[in-house]
Amino acid sequence: KNIVILISGRGSNMEAVVRAAQAEGWPARIAAVISNKPDAGGLAYAQSRGIPTAVVSNKDFATRAEFDARLQEVIDTFQPDLVVLAGFMRILTAPFVEHYAGRMLNIHPSLLPLFPGLHTHQQALDAGMTEHGATVHFVTAELDHGPSVLQARIPVLPGDTPDLLAARLLAEEHKIYPRAVRLFIEDRLVIEDGAVRIVESMDRSRADAI
Ligand code: GRF
Repeated sequence: KNIVILISGRGSNMEAVVRAAQAEGWPARIAAVISNKPDAGGLAYAQSRGIPTAVVSNKDFATRAEFDARLQEVIDTFQPDLVVLAGFMRILTAPFVEHYAGRMLNIHPSLLPLFPGLHTHQQALDAGMTEHGATVHFVTAELDHGPSVLQARIPVLPGDTPDLLAARLLAEEHKIYPRAVRLFIEDRLVIEDGAVRIVESMDRSRADAI
């Protein structure tokens, strides 16, 4: 299976997926890492691992629709089974999202449906939350919505700041994102009535059927 990962910056979640794919010998390859920013830090890591990279700069396009159309064209040259958004900081148009329906994942640093959008750590602190987290979800047209696949939870500690929360949460993101991508690759994610069901591995269900 082919995975295309989209980034805008540091790309540490992309790196976690790349590492897990290799270390665990997934039946999948990272076909490309694509950034909307030419200076995204993660591009160098991808290149160092021999992964093809591409840049589609949103600044080169007058409208979101034109940018998304070009991005889709570039992504599709890699024939992806799955598109992974990893710190990809662009709002996507409905036709783009529709094109990858059921085969595009995102990670958002909050316990969705709480705190969609930006500044999630500050939002969690402002709301007096005792718990914070991150969510891997399928991407649907509405920003930071869509069926949740996996969540990681961390406690909010006395003296926490947005930066401290972000750093502790990032370590958890690096665990759940590879896990969620692997479940997808193993065909273990089923979307039913707008929710994700995680099914046993194909081998197990075949064994059960016999
Ligand atoms: C992560 O916190 C992710 O949840 C959010 O943006 C950050 C990206 O970090 N959407 P990185 O580029 O994966 O290091």
